[in-house]
Amino acid sequence: MFVKLLTIVFFSLLSQFPESSSQALDFTYNGFLPPLTDISLEGIATVTPNGLLKLTNYTIQKTGHAFYTKPIRFKDLPNGTVSSFSTTFVFAIHSEIPSLSGYGMAFVVAPNPRLRYATASQYMGLFNITSDGNVTNHVFAIEFDTIQSPKFSDTDDNHVGIDINSLISVESSPAGYWDIKGQFKNLTLISRKRMQVWVDYDTHTHQIDVTMAPFRNDKPNKPLVSVVRDLSSVLLQDMFVGFSSATGSILSEHYVLGWSFRVKGNAPPLDLSKLPKLPRWERKRIYNIFKTWMPSVCIFLIPFLFISTIIILVRFVVKRRRKFKEELEDWETRLGKNRMKFKDLYYATEGFDEKDVLGSGGFGTVYRGVMLKTKKEIAVKRVSSKSHQGLKEFVSEVVSIGRMSHRNLVPLLGYCRRRDELLLVYEYMPNGSLDKYLHDSPEVTLDWKRRIKVIKGVASALFYLHEEWEQVVIHRDIKASNVLLDSEYNGRLGDFGLARLCGHGSDPQTTLVAGTWGYLAPDHVRTGRATTATDIFAFGVLLLEVACGRRPIEIQNENGDQRVFILDWVFGFWNEGNILDAKDTKLGTEYDRTEVEMVLKLGLLCSHSNPHARPTMRQVLHYLMGDATLPDLSPSDLRGNEMMRLEIHQGLSETGMFTCGSSMVNSIVSASSGR
Ligand SMILES: Nc1ncnc2c1ncn2[C@@H]1O[C@H](COP(=O)(O)OP(=O)(O)OP(=O)(O)O)[C@@H](O)[C@H]1O
Ligand SMILES: *[C@@H]1O[C@H](CO)[C@@H](O)[C@H](O)[C@H]1NC(C)=O
Ligand SMILES: *[C@@H]1O[C@H](CO)[C@@H](O)[C@H](O)[C@H]1NC(C)=O
Ligand SMILES: *[C@@H]1O[C@H](CO)[C@@H](O)[C@H](O)[C@H]1NC(C)=O
Ligand SMILES: *[C@@H]1O[C@H](CO)[C@@H](O)[C@H](O)[C@H]1NC(C)=O
Ligand SMILES: *[C@@H]1O[C@H](CO)[C@@H](O)[C@H](O)[C@H]1NC(C)=O
Ligand SMILES: [Mg+2]
Repeated sequence: MFVKLLTIVFFSLLSQFPESSSQALDFTYNGFLPPLTDISLEGIATVTPNGLLKLTNYTIQKTGHAFYTKPIRFKDLPNGTVSSFSTTFVFAIHSEIPSLSGYGMAFVVAPNPRLRYATASQYMGLFNITSDGNVTNHVFAIEFDTIQSPKFSDTDDNHVGIDINSLISVESSPAGYWDIKGQFKNLTLISRKRMQVWVDYDTHTHQIDVTMAPFRNDKPNKPLVSVVRDLSSVLLQDMFVGFSSATGSILSEHYVLGWSFRVKGNAPPLDLSKLPKLPRWERKRIYNIFKTWMPSVCIFLIPFLFISTIIILVRFVVKRRRKFKEELEDWETRLGKNRMKFKDLYYATEGFDEKDVLGSGGFGTVYRGVMLKTKKEIAVKRVSSKSHQGLKEFVSEVVSIGRMSHRNLVPLLGYCRRRDELLLVYEYMPNGSLDKYLHDSPEVTLDWKRRIKVIKGVASALFYLHEEWEQVVIHRDIKASNVLLDSEYNGRLGDFGLARLCGHGSDPQTTLVAGTWGYLAPDHVRTGRATTATDIFAFGVLLLEVACGRRPIEIQNENGDQRVFILDWVFGFWNEGNILDAKDTKLGTEYDRTEVEMVLKLGLLCSHSNPHARPTMRQVLHYLMGDATLPDLSPSDLRGNEMMRLEIHQGLSETGMFTCGSSMVNSIVSASSGR
């Protein structure tokens, strides 16, 4: 009996031995690095060089299978119960579109490692339309479904289900895990993140547990999906284990990074540090977009960029050239070197910046500037003229005058003309104009020594213009603001000839008289002609202005209707016999009585209403230098003055007064050109 039993056991062992030698009970893959043994690949499944089991690649509507090639003995006897088994694996799903994927993957236990008739998309490579749900399939699977198929009663597009012979899960749950605190945490299957899964079957309780967790997390205590089902009728004695996956119309990749399996025991733990790395998708995705779009983008963008760059450049150049265009007309070429470049002046004055404005007069605004190359300080007068012809004559004259050099003239360095705009470039006078030291209670005033020096300087400059230069030059606008002071407080005369620019070439029936109100000689107003004598009249007014520290016309009362001519004012003192009382109180006591008296009287003489009675500049210079003494004049000698001026006053109001430029200072008086 015992022997018989022994032989049965022996024979049964013997008969099982060849088979059991080929049947594994456990295996572990920490990555699938070649040489890959005991894994068969079907469909589009591949293994990447770094050891990732890639179930699907970017091919649509295809299945991919990977099976352990050796059969697994699930039952000790053909009609026995299924032994306990356990498996764990790490997977990741990546899809081209971050929020969509298809169709998921499954861990499979099947009677053969081929699943040849299984179809793609929602069948997940497990079944086909006719075989789905047929008990003869003998397929047990854990699905990781990323698409909600109503046909299979899917709860959502991110669930884990236990499938027996059918894609309609026996039990399923949204993907996730229960953490240590007992809270449910969602997991997104298509998040591209690595996740670990454990599947356990207990032979005694028939309990099937599916647990999952994020990569590197411990296995949660509470399984995600759990069901009690005796698998004895489902699984055959020898089965094959593996993975199945399928793609739909969205390009997606399903990866298994590592896998272990064991019958009758817990699956061997995976060595997570040895698992292969996933591809760096972000870069690849951007790179792919780059690769697919770049050529077409380039085709449109490059010419577009090129053309727009050229347009911008051309516009810039044109604008710049327009801005800095030099208009050189024939008549200007012979003036040659006096002409300056607008560009240089533009940069010197920082684009005619408001803060560089020195002041403005009747003809325009004066800007301070520094020449970029020479670092020389300049004063640029910007004049706009309405008459081109006038401008032409004026430029010729000014430039010829520019050749003059006299220590008491403000040097004209050059000019620049653009359309009807004229830029006159003068040397910068650091101490500004004389009027600033005389009027409106100035902070600094000039003592008599300086004043007489300035007067003498201006006189010698005017003498030079009238008599010493090769032709007679009439200044036309002598006044305190046109007397500038250099660094040594020498008086220097500026702005000659500018008055001529105003209104030139208009109606021949009328001659427009330009000059500054208060310095205008009566004969000038009457005849409309500027002469050396009209210059001398203005110089006389300037003498009085310097000596008295008063404006040529001082507004006496609040309303401004009573104006007092400086001539009348000085004359009044003289009449009373104390002409010195007319002197500037700001002079204090440091002055030369005879000199002041002489200057006052000379001023009155120069401003005589009869042009023939006025001295010449030569004489004036002699008197000032003390080379000749002023004839002993009495108020009665100059009495005619008052009458004449009165006449002019009336004449002015009859003919009307116009202003030239922006300032009221310069006034043009229209008079009939009676000759
Ligand atoms: N070369 C210069 N250096 C320094 N300052 C100057 C120079 N030329 C002019 N200025 C300043 O600019 C101001 C304005 O001059 P501008 O010649 O435009 O006016 P104006 O002399 O008052 O009147 P007009 O137009 O009759 O000459 C002057 O008051 C003077 O202070
Ligand atoms: C996907 O894998 C299959 C099988 O290896 C291969 O023939 C196919 O070219 C691959 N397709 C892509 C898009 O990589
Ligand atoms: C196993 O079951 C099948 C049918 O289910 C039966 O035909 C066979 O005889 C049984 N074998 C054993 C050893 O019980
Ligand atoms: C479905 O699969 C079965 C085998 O499982 C096969 O016999 C049948 O022909 C398949 N049907 C289709 C439509 O592919
Ligand atoms: C199940 O499949 C088998 C074999 O493929 C077939 O004979 C049987 O008719 C199928 N049963 C159903 C219900 O489709
Ligand atoms: C988890 O997912 C379910 C269904 O997808 C959702 O209702 C729930 O709000 C999610 N919970 C968290 C914490 O995201
Ligand atoms: Mg001036």
